[in-house]
Amino acid sequence: MSNRIPLLTVAVSFAMLAAVIFWVGTRDQSAPTPAQAKTANAAPAARGDTTESATKSEDVAVSGNAASERSEPLPGAAQPGAASAADDFAPPARSEIPDDEFGAMVRKGRDIFTDTQQHADQFVGNDLQCANCHLDEGRRPDSAPLWAAWAMYPAYRGKNKHVNDFAERIQGCFRYSMNGTPPPRGDEVLVALESYAYWLASGAPVAKNLPGRGYPELEAPEQPPSFTRGKQVFADHCALCHGSDGQGQRAADGSLAFPPLWGPRSYNWGAGMHRVNTAAGFIKANMPLGAATLSDQQAWDVARFIDSQERPQDPRFTGSVSETAEQYHGEHSMYGQTVNGVVLGQDAPPSGTAAKVNQP
Ligand code: HEC
Ligand code: HEC
Repeated sequence: MSNRIPLLTVAVSFAMLAAVIFWVGTRDQSAPTPAQAKTANAAPAARGDTTESATKSEDVAVSGNAASERSEPLPGAAQPGAASAADDFAPPARSEIPDDEFGAMVRKGRDIFTDTQQHADQFVGNDLQCANCHLDEGRRPDSAPLWAAWAMYPAYRGKNKHVNDFAERIQGCFRYSMNGTPPPRGDEVLVALESYAYWLASGAPVAKNLPGRGYPELEAPEQPPSFTRGKQVFADHCALCHGSDGQGQRAADGSLAFPPLWGPRSYNWGAGMHRVNTAAGFIKANMPLGAATLSDQQAWDVARFIDSQERPQDPRFTGSVSETAEQYHGEHSMYGQTVNGVVLGQDAPPSGTAAKVNQP
């Protein structure tokens, strides 16, 4: 009889312990409620919508209309490295390019995209490669990845005021970002680039604005972007690679290791990157390369600084800077504005004619 009470105590203790374990277990399992899970899933979608408006707005502002419409706050739009597109869509692995005629064209497109200087030289008027602005061979989210672009065309572009198919969209980057001459329609260079983009988009939904498309649109900065502060950000965070004169740096063999940000061998005054908001979004998400940690304000400031430097003329130049500015440049463009006593665009080298020094 005397040992019954301890036994009972032990039994009760076990029962209580079991109950506690069960309670803890249930509570842990129920931690992510369906509502919470839904919110988590919704986040990337919202980012996608955001990027869409960024892409659209580029066109709107270039045409000089209602550029201010799009400064609404865009939560989460600018978090570099945030799990985003990859959650929803991932392009196929490089090793999956098929070993057939189509695969050969895809490879050709990839080569052109990553080494445009070597493989599409005749259409390029500066020292850039497509992949300098569309990082990781056009695969990286928030770096205008090709897989997100492919299925969004044909689309209306305010920049040229008509519906563009994908080939024409690529021609646009040759003309402005590459400061070159667009390959003619049907040219193998275009077909190869289209094939590469199409292949990267394997399995992606058509006409769906995927998260990670374009560059993130940043909220308007607390303080107006400043050339002076931007100059300091550049010295502290960019000059190491892009050179203190912004002209990039070459490897020992003469190939370009770091691309120029301004000057005669960079993107021209008609390119998307010349717009301070577009450059700010790109920089916030992608620069400094491998350590994109600038604050929004720093990204805006340094974008303002690099886009207040002279670069090749806008190919749409009418003969007058002020007229060209009025016709084609919106609120985020420094073209035609006076910076340090100089009217930007006034001393621009002609578009499309940079002397070739890119070949070793
Ligand atoms: C100087 C930077 C730069 C270079 C170099 C460049 N691009 Fe672009 N590209 C841009 C910008 C800026 C946009 C507009 C992105 C946005 O609106 O969010 C863009 C947009 C695009 C788009 C449409 C993306 C979309 O989602 O609608 C495609 C396709 C494209 N570029 C292809 C190319 C190709 C091909 C090359 C090389 C021949 C190239 N780009 C070179 C900056 C560049
Ligand atoms: C560690 C070296 C490094 C640093 C630091 C760096 N970049 Fe870059 N940047 C690169 C490289 C490399 C590319 C081309 C990316 C590629 O081809 O994958 C690039 C591309 C760019 C481009 C698009 C191509 C062009 O020439 O216009 C811009 C704009 C740019 N960087 C701006 C900046 C700014 C602004 C900073 C400072 C906040 C910065 N970078 C810091 C290495 C760097």
